[in-house]
Amino acid sequence: MTVTESVLYEGLAERVQQQIQQGLFQPGERLPSVRKLAERESVSVSTVLAAYERLERLRLIEARPKSGYFVLHQAREQLSEPSICSPPARPVPAHISPLMMDLIDTRKRGRLNFSTAMPAQDTNIGRTLRRTFARLSREGKFLHNGGYGALDGAEPLRRQIALRSLDAGLTVSADDIIVTVGCQNAISLALRVATRPGDVVAVESPCYLGFLQMIEAYGLKAIEIPSHPSDGLSLEALQLALEQWPIRTLISVPSFSNPLGSCMPTAKRRALVDLLGKYDLTMIEDDIYGEMSFFTGQRPTAVKAFDRDGRVMLCSSLSKSIDPQLRVGWIMPGRHYNEVLHQKYITTLSLPELPQLAAAELMAGGQYDRHLRHCRELYCSRLAELTDLVAEHFPPETKAARPQGGIGLWLELPRHVDATRLYYRAREHDFAFSPGELFAVDNRYQHCLRIIFAQPWTDERKQAIAQLGAWVKEAIAVPPVSQRLPSEVS
Ligand SMILES: Cc1ncc(COP(=O)(O)O)c(C=O)c1O
Repeated sequence: MTVTESVLYEGLAERVQQQIQQGLFQPGERLPSVRKLAERESVSVSTVLAAYERLERLRLIEARPKSGYFVLHQAREQLSEPSICSPPARPVPAHISPLMMDLIDTRKRGRLNFSTAMPAQDTNIGRTLRRTFARLSREGKFLHNGGYGALDGAEPLRRQIALRSLDAGLTVSADDIIVTVGCQNAISLALRVATRPGDVVAVESPCYLGFLQMIEAYGLKAIEIPSHPSDGLSLEALQLALEQWPIRTLISVPSFSNPLGSCMPTAKRRALVDLLGKYDLTMIEDDIYGEMSFFTGQRPTAVKAFDRDGRVMLCSSLSKSIDPQLRVGWIMPGRHYNEVLHQKYITTLSLPELPQLAAAELMAGGQYDRHLRHCRELYCSRLAELTDLVAEHFPPETKAARPQGGIGLWLELPRHVDATRLYYRAREHDFAFSPGELFAVDNRYQHCLRIIFAQPWTDERKQAIAQLGAWVKEAIAVPPVSQRLPSEVS
């Protein structure tokens, strides 16, 4: 298939996908015949067939012999969305769950890992990277070629990142970007320059546990802002908090947040930037999943794209899209550029050149984009498989988020089910997921959990999820202690 043909069929698949998501075609309904759609769209029959095949791979439609293509019922429609929480509306010191150390320890994690947010390992990008590494080494592009690399990072990589940023609505140059050791390092540098010990930092609730760890380590206080499972951070709640507390900084993942998978709509992003200006707030925008949308194939416009004051520091990396071992990340620090560069100088000096140059080559050569396209399809169908498993094996009261990108699914179990207890039970059976208590400063999400769905669904992995569902059913069969008769409580 030529490049033009693949652009045509992907575009068509995306349009039909959007029409399904907007409800124009309902589950169970027949889609236009291949011929009719080819005529309407002025494309060839083979383009329509390729588009329909793509939607089949995404598990959105199915072909029925001699009848045509039909919209599939999505298991996620059977599961309601998680509720919006109301965290304590005041700043508190962040105390990280001791479970964190357990999960970091690879020996304890179990063989089947649904816990680490790691991209798929069954794609070709690893091989391509290894070849690129080998060639760059042969060509002597690193080691013994001039000492420390540039403090702001390798120029070819910064230029590629600047080019890609156009898709996020950002007009930045290579000189506006600093390469970091993954996204975690970028956020940590940003937090260092944006805060002083004792300051209050607003975070989404639930939020990525790494933020809470940094807040704790830097002697800061966290104020958790409720987040909607599909729209993200509540701006009303943020504004209320801003009126009451001296908040210095907001850390947020507007695009496919971790753990909810929510994606903030564009108008809300614009309104958020207005709020940042009104309260003179710095924002750390974690865009690590920004290119990993699987529904429309278009990456969301970054919050930073609406920022005219340079107060948004955008942080990202290739850890979720390629491999966390690359440790290639970056920050666009806006008006804090010099302070961030200085912090980087103090903490890391410079980074190994090889991963940076290899990443730049993959971006320039188009392999990275091809890989992303492949991953979109892969993750969309792997999420559908997981949702099917949850709908089949978990009790019907289970609520599931509807991520539009990323690699994690957030589940809310009936209130009295303790996900941490399930975690320890799972470990005895050689598998691990992330219990909800990791994603907040208190135990508000004790009945929630996150499952990473990036890896292929082998029988063994499916069985582990089915087993987890059976334990949840078992747990709800036993009434919570508060509802038991005194004679039942030992
Ligand atoms: C939202 C978010 N930000 C940052 C990170 C850390 O990324 P990196 O491995 O690039 O440091 C993670 C890793 O899970 C994450 O989920």
